[in-house]
Amino acid sequence: MTVLTTIRLRLEPFAEAHFDGLQTMNRDPAVMRYITGRPETPEETRAAIERVQKRWAEWGYSWWALIEQASGELVGAACLQHLAGDRANPHEIGWRLRPEYWRQGYASEAAREIAAFAFGTVGVPLLRAICDQANTASARVMQRLGMRYCGVERWYDCDTAAYEMTREEWHETPDRRG
Ligand SMILES: CC(C)(COP(=O)(O)OP(=O)(O)OC[C@H]1O[C@@H](n2cnc3c(N)ncnc32)[C@H](O)[C@@H]1OP(=O)(O)O)[C@@H](O)C(=O)NCCC(=O)NCCS
Repeated sequence: MTVLTTIRLRLEPFAEAHFDGLQTMNRDPAVMRYITGRPETPEETRAAIERVQKRWAEWGYSWWALIEQASGELVGAACLQHLAGDRANPHEIGWRLRPEYWRQGYASEAAREIAAFAFGTVGVPLLRAICDQANTASARVMQRLGMRYCGVERWYDCDTAAYEMTREEWHETPDRRG
């Protein structure tokens, strides 16, 4: 399991120790507004940690908890996974943060490190990201990362805004690599 680090964050593969921080984040309606639309229950958080641990063992990537190095606080979570959990689908990058940590660049900082891991270490040819069409904050993270808008696509029972970036595009935009 791969721990990644950035200037301000440590990205730790989900573990039981992250339960309190993840549950605090995922029970917040502001966080879940464009994801499931309802707060996550403690049972769901527990099941998610277990599911993610299996994926780490199977795929070698999945969700990381974003830990602020200065405080040790869990500020968010981010992932590299296959769209819809199906290995036949392209890779997807995703993120969420506790609202206290919005507008500080943490999602973009984690996303750059995960993109570098995906293209450089895993060797994925293409990275995609999707969000609710009204989720402009998430779309801005995709744009800041250098992703291209591809149109509206149906994923997770939702008409989503889809973005993508090839490995070549990533290497051609060194300013995005942080
Ligand atoms: C999506 C989400 C993670 C985006 O969070 P965010 O804080 O806007 O994104 P970042 O952490 O990249 O921060 C970027 C913002 O911080 C500002 N910022 C402040 N300090 C910064 C720094 N040191 N570095 C970079 N940006 C900084 C940027 O200007 C930018 O603001 P802007 O978009 O108004 O220009 C957050 O809104 C969220 O958790 N939403 C709920 C969950 C969710 O919907 N997840 C996505 C599902 S698809």
